Amino acid sequence: MTISQDPSAPLAVLVGITGLQGGSVARALFESDKPYRIRGLTRDATKFAAQAFAAQGVHIVSVSLTVDNAAGVREAFDGADIIFLVTNFNEHMDQQREVAEGKMLVNTAKAVGVKLLIWSGLEPLSALSGGKYSRVAFFDSKSEITEYAKQSGVPLSVVEAGYYASNVFEASYALRKQPDGSYVFGLPVPATTAVPVIDVAHDYGLYVRAAIEDPALGAGSEVQSGTLISFGEMVAKLAEVSGKKITYAEVDREKFIEMTGMPEYGNMLADMFQAFAVHGYYGPKEITSAGVLARKPRSWSDFLDVTPMQDF
Ligand SMILES: NC(=O)c1ccc[n+]([C@@H]2O[C@H](COP(=O)([O-])OP(=O)(O)OC[C@H]3O[C@@H](n4cnc5c(N)ncnc54)[C@H](OP(=O)(O)O)[C@@H]3O)[C@@H](O)[C@H]2O)c1
Repeated sequence: MTISQDPSAPLAVLVGITGLQGGSVARALFESDKPYRIRGLTRDATKFAAQAFAAQGVHIVSVSLTVDNAAGVREAFDGADIIFLVTNFNEHMDQQREVAEGKMLVNTAKAVGVKLLIWSGLEPLSALSGGKYSRVAFFDSKSEITEYAKQSGVPLSVVEAGYYASNVFEASYALRKQPDGSYVFGLPVPATTAVPVIDVAHDYGLYVRAAIEDPALGAGSEVQSGTLISFGEMVAKLAEVSGKKITYAEVDREKFIEMTGMPEYGNMLADMFQAFAVHGYYGPKEITSAGVLARKPRSWSDFLDVTPMQDF
């Protein structure tokens, strides 16, 4: 199915369409047998990703989703039946800003009378750990926005993104080359620590599509994405596929923080991994069955099969 221009088709407004999550949502709606009109938001309509979606029939709108531009956001959301929201902590690393922007986006979605708001939330790792792992700002801020959205009464589905498979390739702090040419991949948690891995660009949108289209989901639902696998198993499979000698070895927390080279960032990552190990990525919540999805998501092994190993 291509993107509909028919005014009777529901209008889905997608935040972050040029990014991993929003782009994945757009592609999943393209794949649907149901028609959607899609409006994709970006700060820069000239970007390659924005232009590529425009060529496929997406109406690209330029807008900055900041608190000082609430009127512009309202215009961008106007007429939406479905809105997909993601906030981008990584760009500014400011917890208060993420919460303020998230709340503004929720308020605006409610004000335009959206029929279904899909929010990319995460769990409150600080609260789950009784304050022990309190530095994982981007989990806590997203959970604060989730609670705010629930309280607001907007028709809401929370679709939580799993642990990006690509993180492993970006975790240069965890990888140490040994004198014999082999590698050790080390995090401050046991090898048995498991996370719900997802090829986010390929599969996150499948979960959003299910939240929209599955009658058992929709408003009031929560969806936890990904496929559980331990760091030890991930590294073993990576060694097999890449042909390199890589082993997993748990690192002492202080040593790990030193390896990151940035104490504040290192402490945040250490809290995050340790919270995953003790409380789970989704706390006590179960991962949503892949049975609700329109197709099978990629496993870690599938992801490695399509990832050029020279990247590693
Ligand atoms: N890494 C993980 O394992 C993981 C797991 C779960 C959740 N997350 C969360 O995922 C979020 C990032 O999502 P992503 O991976 O999809 O990010 P991404 O690929 O970096 O894309 C970010 C998107 O947000 C848009 N954007 C950012 N600031 C904007 C603004 N002021 N106005 C309008 N659009 C704006 C960007 O649009 P333009 O640049 O085109 O304007 C872009 O489309 C983070 O908050 C992170 O905490 C990450």
